[in-house]
Amino acid sequence: MATFTLPKNSTIGAGKTFKAEPGAKNVKSFKIYRFDPDTGENPRYDTYEIDLDKCGPMVLDALIKIKNEVDTTLTFRRSCREGICGSCSMNIDGMNTLACLKPIEDVKKDVRITPLPHMPVVKDLVPDLTHIYAQLRSIEPWLKSDTPPPPDEERRQSKEERAKLDGLWECILCFCCSTACPSYWWNGDRYLGPAVLLQAYRWIADSRDEYTGERLDNLEDPFRLYRCHTIMNCAATCPKGLNPAQAIGEIKKLMVERQG
Ligand code: SF4
Ligand code: SF4
Ligand code: FES
Repeated sequence: MATFTLPKNSTIGAGKTFKAEPGAKNVKSFKIYRFDPDTGENPRYDTYEIDLDKCGPMVLDALIKIKNEVDTTLTFRRSCREGICGSCSMNIDGMNTLACLKPIEDVKKDVRITPLPHMPVVKDLVPDLTHIYAQLRSIEPWLKSDTPPPPDEERRQSKEERAKLDGLWECILCFCCSTACPSYWWNGDRYLGPAVLLQAYRWIADSRDEYTGERLDNLEDPFRLYRCHTIMNCAATCPKGLNPAQAIGEIKKLMVERQG
């Protein structure tokens, strides 16, 4: 039977407050989810008051400032700081996005930050991506071809063939979309979710790939592909402006066409 209350060890308690320096005039509060499995304690929200006059403009700037100057125990992923690596994805102000692309001034009240939803948490803002990376591997996200490339030349595509990859190659695998997808929340053990399916279509759509049939066979399954119910949360949340639901629709179309 479905349980509608959180188990006791999941309820989020009140945490510590780290006050701004005396004299700070432009203060913003960041309420950040904290969880350390080694302590055996419940998760909590810690509050950090930050002087925005001494902080960069993005949410990631505030997180780095907190880690460097206020509380070194705060844990999060980040690398490029410019929306390319996909590692700083988290839920900010109720929306999955990249901390490095999210301006602090876009959040009108306190900035509430939690890890990507419905994922096991390793620590604080770091989700465990083991399962979703295994799902990614299962679609073999690389060029598969039995024909050797022409000697001393790359495999060529026409402009039109190359254009079919636009809206797909830009994906940075941040998983904001998959962790915003209700179908992935409920069936993530078997449904591949929008990020992995967009990657699957990226290789299906590639004119140089010779394994389209096998790739479609690999997806022909009531759970792996067909749990998408076109709810569109994925497109609404993608920080790169991509549309995984459309890519999923294209795969479904190809499934129908090859039956005809
Ligand atoms: S459109 Fe499909 S993949 Fe996107 S959020 Fe909805 S169910 Fe998930
Ligand atoms: S489609 Fe967008 S939200 Fe999903 S993994 Fe790729 S970049 Fe991230
Ligand atoms: S730090 Fe690389 S995408 Fe944000």
